[in-house]
Amino acid sequence: MTDVPRWFTATKDGHSQGYVDRFRQLADEGADLAGEARLIDALIPPRSRVLDAGCGPGRLGAVLHARGHTVVGVDADPVLIEAAQDDHPGPRWIVGDLSSLALDEEPFDIAVVAGNVMVFVAPGTERRVLESLRRHVRPGGRIILGFATDRELSLAAFDADVEAAGLELEQRFATWDLVPFSPDADFAVTFLRVPDVL
Ligand SMILES: C[S@@+](CC[C@H](N)C(=O)[O-])C[C@H]1O[C@@H](n2cnc3c(N)ncnc32)[C@H](O)[C@@H]1O
Repeated sequence: MTDVPRWFTATKDGHSQGYVDRFRQLADEGADLAGEARLIDALIPPRSRVLDAGCGPGRLGAVLHARGHTVVGVDADPVLIEAAQDDHPGPRWIVGDLSSLALDEEPFDIAVVAGNVMVFVAPGTERRVLESLRRHVRPGGRIILGFATDRELSLAAFDADVEAAGLELEQRFATWDLVPFSPDADFAVTFLRVPDVL
């Protein structure tokens, strides 16, 4: 990996396993870890093709697979992908970098980029990540991203990258349960559309 994600450079040793352990514990405690997946499921027809981009240990892809969708999960962190493979058999879980992704797959109907992935990519690769997601989602399909807007990536910079990547900004909310966005919100859930071919 030439551009190393902040997920590796801005975190402490043992961070990956700690993340896996934390989410396993939350699942054991019965925490609701499926909020984002419920929204995605509501946006797509049955048996859609879903790209879980920056899937981590697979909590969202697992839910969408259980609801009958075909899920491919991609993450740069092999520790998290191993946990996804162990805990959630069914989807295809792949170690890969979103900024240079070249999957040999049919295009996806939707890509979900949840859990602050855009904040954790390598600095300066955000536009490439969006371009690469665009290449993997069919014309007319959607890309839904949620991230904190008070950290490394400002919304203005993100929106400029969206435009440069040729994606259409369709809707924006402050939360995954669709509270309306306001300029003082510190989180944004953005719905992007891949333009239809003429
Ligand atoms: C906070 S975790 C979120 C994981 C998962 N989406 C969730 O919500 O549970 C952020 C994830 O972004 C991934 N990530 C960051 N940069 C990436 C890149 N360039 N390519 C693939 N994954 C990346 C990290 O490896 C990490 O798993």
